[in-house]
Amino acid sequence: MEGKELEKKTEQLRQELQDAFFWFHRHPELSYEEYQTTEKIREFLTEHGIEIMESELETGLIAVIHGEKEGAVRALRCDIDALPVLEESGVPYASETKGKMHACGHDFHITAGLGCAVLLQKKKKDLSGTIKIIFQPAEESARGAEKITETDLIDDVKLIWGFHADPTNPVGTIGIREGYVAAAADRFLIRITGKGCHGAHPDTGIDPIPAAAAMVQAFQTIVTRNSDAFHPTLISVTRIEAGNTWNVVPETAELEGTVRTMNREDRVLFQKRLQEITELTAAAYGAKAEFQWYPGSPAVYNDPEMARIAEETAKKQSLLTVPEESSMGGDDFSFYEEKLPGCYIKIGIGVGPAIHQPGFKVDPKILLPAAEYLTALLIENE
Ligand code: NI
Repeated sequence: MEGKELEKKTEQLRQELQDAFFWFHRHPELSYEEYQTTEKIREFLTEHGIEIMESELETGLIAVIHGEKEGAVRALRCDIDALPVLEESGVPYASETKGKMHACGHDFHITAGLGCAVLLQKKKKDLSGTIKIIFQPAEESARGAEKITETDLIDDVKLIWGFHADPTNPVGTIGIREGYVAAAADRFLIRITGKGCHGAHPDTGIDPIPAAAAMVQAFQTIVTRNSDAFHPTLISVTRIEAGNTWNVVPETAELEGTVRTMNREDRVLFQKRLQEITELTAAAYGAKAEFQWYPGSPAVYNDPEMARIAEETAKKQSLLTVPEESSMGGDDFSFYEEKLPGCYIKIGIGVGPAIHQPGFKVDPKILLPAAEYLTALLIENE
């Protein structure tokens, strides 16, 4: 293509991506409700002649681009859901649904994925193998990725890339790190049963509240006494509930919270110790306790070779690379990594309010460069 012609095409794509991004931002949908979003993605891909896989998925879809050279099947994950947040970003294309907002930048993830699909389609001649772009629902529910991995839609995929908007870095910056970058995010729920009685006669009952208080204290010793001091781990008791008045000792108490760990052994250790402390503490106070553990997404681990490729590609695209901050937050991208090597990178979207905050915003200048970077990542590396 002539220089001028190419420039015109690039400008056209930049405009199309910006329009799409504004549309997605105006129309946020929560986990598993991404019907309009899915339709809009389908429409955009169809207009550009990009194949969409047949699937039973209610929301979300997978686009496929077949390269003209032999090669492996690789995937890119773009999550598509929004959050129940009241927008206060001040952008002229703000959410049209009060109380829902793309406050985690998944509208940017969709748009960058669409741009990448268009660019790959144009570069089919240079592309080896097949690329599947997964427009994944319900990341915020922490289970959307698992739903995809339960199907056979990605059985042939050999490796997977993921990315996330990063409001701690300016546009033109890519955050990369090998190894663990996000924690396993598990939930626990404890129900203590004692024996209710008059507040003036605690000796006639079994008060579950001191048992609950003792547990909250004792749980932190798993972090400080049981786990390796060089391993990032944490426990947060986030809800504690008992009783409903001032002069009655309640019958029951409930505790709920989250455990965050990076490596597998710690995850097993924390579950085991939490259960032991719960049951034995309850017994020490004459009460009984039921312990429930709800495993969430595993930790996100960046394959070292893929992290190296991500860094080299960024440099070739004249992007600045910085060490990716690891986080005790979770991402269900790790469900793919239970089956495949993966790498999850951060793309600077302009420094501003953190993700999940009402003021969060993505600088639209990043849309095309992000699509170009992801394209380079997929096209050059099998
Ligand atoms: Ni997110």
